[in-house]
Amino acid sequence: MKQLLLDVNVVVDLCVARAGSANARLAIALAETGGVALWVYAGSVQTFEYVLASEVYTAALANGEGLTRSAARSRARHLLARITADYQWLAALAAEGPVFEDEDPEDAQLQRALERFAEGSAGLLTRDKRMLARYPDRALMPEAFIEQQRHFQSSLPHIDFVDLKTQQAAIRPALERNLHRVLHHGQYILGPEVRELEVRLAAYTGAKHCITVASGTEALLISLMALGIGPGDEVITTPFTFVATAEVIVLVGATPVFIDIDPATCNIDPSLIEARITARTKAIMPVSLYGQPADMDAINAIAARHGNIPVIEDAAQSFGATYQGKQSGNLSTIGCTSFFPSKPLGCYGDGGAIFTSDDVLAQACREIRVHGQSKRYVHTRIGVGGRMDTLQCAVVLAKLDRFDQEISQRQTVAHRYHELLATETHGITRKEEREERVRVLPCDSVATNLRLLPWPKAHRTSVFAQYTILVEDRDALQAGLYAAGIPTAVHYPVPINEQPAYAHLCCPDCTPVAQSIARQVMSLPMHPDLGEADQQRIVTTLMQSEALCHHPEP
Ligand SMILES: Cc1ncc(COP(=O)(O)O)c(C=O)c1O
Repeated sequence: MKQLLLDVNVVVDLCVARAGSANARLAIALAETGGVALWVYAGSVQTFEYVLASEVYTAALANGEGLTRSAARSRARHLLARITADYQWLAALAAEGPVFEDEDPEDAQLQRALERFAEGSAGLLTRDKRMLARYPDRALMPEAFIEQQRHFQSSLPHIDFVDLKTQQAAIRPALERNLHRVLHHGQYILGPEVRELEVRLAAYTGAKHCITVASGTEALLISLMALGIGPGDEVITTPFTFVATAEVIVLVGATPVFIDIDPATCNIDPSLIEARITARTKAIMPVSLYGQPADMDAINAIAARHGNIPVIEDAAQSFGATYQGKQSGNLSTIGCTSFFPSKPLGCYGDGGAIFTSDDVLAQACREIRVHGQSKRYVHTRIGVGGRMDTLQCAVVLAKLDRFDQEISQRQTVAHRYHELLATETHGITRKEEREERVRVLPCDSVATNLRLLPWPKAHRTSVFAQYTILVEDRDALQAGLYAAGIPTAVHYPVPINEQPAYAHLCCPDCTPVAQSIARQVMSLPMHPDLGEADQQRIVTTLMQSEALCHHPEP
């Protein structure tokens, strides 16, 4: 059981010691150490106050303490404010209102509220025997929960690869308020939240314009369309990326020209670009992979030398990162990002954004995202249905206030991985030496078959959309970690120029670094709320893995 909704009687148990309340307290303590989310129902506020105030009044009377009813109420409120501060408020929804036909409307409300949780994941903690008898599948006594937890805690919990739940708990009030506002004003397409988000994101990046769109893929596609790129044109890009980067080039009828990557960053190697520029090159599309901006100065300089070729930064993974103090997304002609849920700044569906300081391009992007419309029903260019909906913008707005803090938490988590792994692979224990090694890794002479990607260079930061290491025997390692409750992922197993649909566009063997790196990369769990103990467990499990201890023949 991952979620517990606390019945009024249990909340009262937490506020005052009374007969039988010790088990409720123990159950809550076990839930907290076991990572179970605790909820209190917003629809029960008055009942909390009423029941607790009576309890306080009666206890005072029994102790001979002269307490008025109003003083008991105010003591109850004070206690409730303190106790419930540690839990999440579960909103009372409209569907939980019409319960008057039920023999106990309040119990019915709680049961309806529970139906919102995924099946089998949540229960109501109660000491009410009648509730238990009516809803035996969803209600449980503190004693039963204690038993369950003791059993559960003897096995190691699963670690999330990406944890959106903790983040959601932190932003829930703003999130619900934003979503409900949209439900009430009803402007689901291009509503006020869309403009608000665009203004805030433009200010965040320093770009003059932000145009929100339906996804990161759509952002890239619309950018190419706005630049007028089409059949016969070539776009220089990296083969080591998510397929969307190359997909959009082919979709507009142009040809992707794949350039090999720098093994230290996994981003396009700028020293190889110039040799591949032709008269047909109409754009360069670097990807800021894993959260670290590509070598944008070098790429922009090459583009400038060749007649100002537009540069589109695919910042789907790097939004929030900086390069020479400037924000990723605002480092070239156009920047594109994705709000896919697992991205550093994600929504709860699909979404994306385009950034540019070029007025003409911005206007083109705005028109293309609404079917090439310059005025209502006047279609001056070919476009797409590419808007980001208002509800998704409302989600991103709720996340934006916490974004910088989350970036810094991500960097802390990444640095901790780097330190722990450097210590394990090099046996470095002195803190200063470890710090130094962390800066200059990769470990070329390690005794294990695990290598780290170097920490981002001094003049750039990464948002660590992924924390990725290089390993041999990846399949065996992944299987071992998975069996220990630790998920991993591969970003990406096959360079795009080796994918069946793309191989004919470029020689599959002309990017040997990407080919070799693709066989080795493995991403570890990464999110802002990943704790030190979980990271230590991940690294220890990794280092103890048979697949890693087995040394390949020299
Ligand atoms: C590098 C890169 N480019 C483009 C995209 C496409 O973004 P979306 O999934 O929002 O279409 C992604 C998303 O995974 C990505 O990682």
